Amino acid sequence: MVLQLLCSIIFLYTGLGANALSYDYSAHIECVRKPEKAQYGGGIITNPELDNGLKGWSRFGYAKLLHKESEGNRFIVAHSRNQPYDSVSQRLYLQKNNFYTFSAWIQVSKGNHVPVRATFKTKNGFKHAGSVVAQSHCWSFLKGGLTVDESGVADLYFESNNTSVDIWADSISLQPFTQKQWKSHQYHSIQKVRKSNVRIRVVDRRGDPIENATILIERNKPNFPFGCAINKLILTNPAYKSWFTSKKFTVTTFEDEMKWYSNEPTQGKEDYSISDQMLSFAKGQQISVRGHNVVWDDPQYQPYWVKSLSGQQLYSAATKRLNSVMGKYKGQVIAWDVVNENLHNKFFETQLRNGNASAEFYNLAFGADSSTIMFLNEYNTIESPGDSLANPTQYLKKLKEIQSFPGNANGKLGIGLESHFDVPNLAYIRSSIDVLAATGLPVWITELDVKSNSNQAKYLDDILRELFSHPGIKGIVMWASWHPQGCWAMCLTDNNFKNLPTGDVVDKLMAEWGFLNDVVTGQANAFGFYDASLFHGDYQVRVAHPAQFKNSFFSTATSHSFKVTPLVVGSRNRSNSLVIQISD
Ligand SMILES: *[C@@H]1O[C@H](CO)[C@@H](O)[C@H](O)[C@H]1NC(C)=O
Ligand SMILES: *[C@@H]1O[C@H](CO)[C@@H](O)[C@H](O)[C@H]1NC(C)=O
Ligand SMILES: *[C@@H]1O[C@H](CO)[C@@H](O)[C@H](O)[C@H]1NC(C)=O
Ligand SMILES: *[C@@H]1O[C@H](CO)[C@@H](O)[C@H](O)[C@H]1NC(C)=O
Ligand SMILES: *[C@@H]1O[C@H](CO)[C@@H](O)[C@H](O)[C@H]1NC(C)=O
Repeated sequence: MVLQLLCSIIFLYTGLGANALSYDYSAHIECVRKPEKAQYGGGIITNPELDNGLKGWSRFGYAKLLHKESEGNRFIVAHSRNQPYDSVSQRLYLQKNNFYTFSAWIQVSKGNHVPVRATFKTKNGFKHAGSVVAQSHCWSFLKGGLTVDESGVADLYFESNNTSVDIWADSISLQPFTQKQWKSHQYHSIQKVRKSNVRIRVVDRRGDPIENATILIERNKPNFPFGCAINKLILTNPAYKSWFTSKKFTVTTFEDEMKWYSNEPTQGKEDYSISDQMLSFAKGQQISVRGHNVVWDDPQYQPYWVKSLSGQQLYSAATKRLNSVMGKYKGQVIAWDVVNENLHNKFFETQLRNGNASAEFYNLAFGADSSTIMFLNEYNTIESPGDSLANPTQYLKKLKEIQSFPGNANGKLGIGLESHFDVPNLAYIRSSIDVLAATGLPVWITELDVKSNSNQAKYLDDILRELFSHPGIKGIVMWASWHPQGCWAMCLTDNNFKNLPTGDVVDKLMAEWGFLNDVVTGQANAFGFYDASLFHGDYQVRVAHPAQFKNSFFSTATSHSFKVTPLVVGSRNRSNSLVIQISD
């Protein structure tokens, strides 16, 4: 009895400990018949599963509330709604400096695409936490996050501009994390998704361990793509060029030079001379290039001559453009932004009178280059919880439209997040990426910058740490191509190519993440083993016998190349292992 009690106390204790510390990166993107349990057991929400009637819940505005049960599942219904905010609410106490992760399962009484948003009314105004495009007859998962400017009470409520639907909610969760916990999630995630344990064993010709063998490990090439945009000035300004090449970036995007208006400034007169030169510069430096962009759905960024074309003329001009640029650079770029910013804009959809214009361009793109990933590329998705056009579930809806278009099911799609920040909301950034990453598609940060303000460098540091540590993120490109009269929103360097504070942040993090020369040294133990935790990438290891080390390490050491790779999920391997034999 005592033992049993002790066990359950330990269980409870470790259970809470894990709850308080670890972060749940999961999200659900399918609409399901029955909601899952609330994440974190509901966190600080009272009666999160609605198992105790309406305890803890009250109406918001003039909605009427009902407690319902269906197939053994209990939930809350807000009906008789006349205003977008008429709904169900719970009052909570929120603390400044905490990060809050929010989630809920939502259903509406009718319709297939009804946007519903979770908002907190605080004394300093309304804080949007997250949105979902909800449906009837099944439950959709809403995930979001927020912080507050001042501690105090806040009222959680849901809102929908469509007042003809009832809002149903269940399994609602609000989990606070301290700053320290938030940082520890990042730390643990980096250990888990960006690094692997490596075990090297040093033996002699007979296979016996060599104690104290000296080991020097150097990284030749990092695995994670990290870089910055460039523009054509790099071709003619040697200082810009040498600054950029000194940075050890592994990926770049041309700011404007691969856009339609640059490549075909006059109809029928294509000019790829600048993009050709920039591509050959990047190749020479072994820097990958993202193809940006094939066409752009924003009416204000068309070549000037495009605006006067009829529907049929536009269709043939746009398909000619697509085949031209993709044919030219096929196999030479690692990604294509196919229809740029098609969540906020619909130039082609409108002009071609075809609601599926984007889906059709992706279809043509898959045909033109079947091995490169075709990206959507959009702003505000992780930057701005108030943007109802481009939030993560609107993004999912667009992806679905494209994927379900005939012929597109097997096309390789990617999720591009521009990431033009002002003041970052880390809790919202993380949860938004959780939702997008649940698709299993690669998620890239394509145009990261932070508006100029007194915290610009600190915000850049916060954001980069959040993004690099997120398991869903597969690459990061910053939007800081240099212009003498000022960069688009953020520069890393001044006009003498001396770091600005933002540039210092980038250098510091690149060093911390082993993007620069990552060198580790150590000695084998009595069993010949040496263990290290290394960032994924290509390495070279040199090993020397302890007796030889003192005089001439580099001439006597045995050298091996190896790769540090993510460990195969489900395998029993706990490290990448390598046996090195040296002569004694
Ligand atoms: C509200 O949603 C219903 C169900 O989808 C739809 O029939 C109706 O047109 C929508 N109303 C508005 C104003 O969008
Ligand atoms: C290895 O180094 C340790 C510490 O310097 C020393 O005590 C030990 O004797 C060495 N072992 C061998 C086999 O040289
Ligand atoms: C887009 O294409 C799909 C599949 O062919 C079709 O079901 C849908 O109605 C089309 N949508 C529009 C807006 O044309
Ligand atoms: C409701 O409509 C307004 C005006 O179009 C828009 O700004 C707002 O974001 C919408 N709210 C939601 C929850 O979609
Ligand atoms: C385990 O590690 C060994 C040595 O690195 C490797 O050959 C093997 O493929 C790995 N097995 C799995 C299942 O990952």
